Amino acid sequence: MKHLLSLETMSREDMELVLRDAAVFKKTRGKHATQPLAGQTWALIFSKSSTRTRVSFEVGIRELGGNALFLNANDIQLGRGEPIKDTARVLGRMIHGAVIRTFAQSDVEEFAKYSKIPTVNALTDDEHPCQILTDIFTYQEKKGSIAGKVVTFVGDGACNVPASWVFAAAKLGFELRIAAPKAYQPTDALIARAGSAHFHEAGGNRYFTFVGGGKVVCMEDLKAALTGSDLLYTDVWVSMGKEAESAQRLKDLAGYQINAELVKVANPGALVMHCLPAYRGKEIDEATLEAHADTIFEQAENRLHTQKAIMNWMVV
Ligand code: CP
Ligand code: NVA
Repeated sequence: MKHLLSLETMSREDMELVLRDAAVFKKTRGKHATQPLAGQTWALIFSKSSTRTRVSFEVGIRELGGNALFLNANDIQLGRGEPIKDTARVLGRMIHGAVIRTFAQSDVEEFAKYSKIPTVNALTDDEHPCQILTDIFTYQEKKGSIAGKVVTFVGDGACNVPASWVFAAAKLGFELRIAAPKAYQPTDALIARAGSAHFHEAGGNRYFTFVGGGKVVCMEDLKAALTGSDLLYTDVWVSMGKEAESAQRLKDLAGYQINAELVKVANPGALVMHCLPAYRGKEIDEATLEAHADTIFEQAENRLHTQKAIMNWMVV
């Protein structure tokens, strides 16, 4: 039984397989050789808003031959307090796979354990694995292997999206720089979970060099972080569930915007990506988002192709 709960626990070989298959699913859209979800019903159980993830999974499930069932967590008894483990045991007897967007990572893990059906993390407070696999697929289809390249994440470096990037860097051998104020950088403990690493600190920066290749560097100096960068990446400053901290976050992160001035510091031809939704004038300026819209919206489209590859990997 395969799940995709976290990039921490996904092997490099499995990531590479999914990335290869995503290209095949993209190329053969509308004429796939197989229908790996034929006769299956997969449920999407969402406790948070979604445009891209919901639509790409619903369409992807149908295009792989399956039926998609969208369940807003508030509309089922889960929202009135029925335990996850009971919900999981009921659904596990009726459906064939689950795609879950929620708050606690432990809830997705508990669902997988009790439902005994393939379960996908479609975003928790801790991780967003489908997004980062898609982002890497998008980088590689445009620029070739990400191994040895420099990816700079700018903004809230302590949320779910950069956490999945940290695990990917250690597995796929690229350098991930997190440009963020200290309080918005990933913790030593999180980075240590990505693999054995040599650690040193210099000039206020934290450097982790993984034994198997790959690096994570946490730094406050945005210009230094962008120098020599091949991919500039950002995400919202206020993740879902953090709305009460909005005012403080907007203040703390104000200097960490990807804008036209800063793109010039990166390598010529560097890509700019955003997982979306984007808040113009906050984590990215309007001009930069529009200048890189082709990449950013292809990145969004690629959720469909990559998630088909993920579900195919889980069931075949
Ligand atoms: N990037 C992403 O997951 O978008 P949605 O929240 O719209 O699903
Ligand atoms: N970090 C963001 C990602 C949105 C796709 C959030 O959790 O809201």
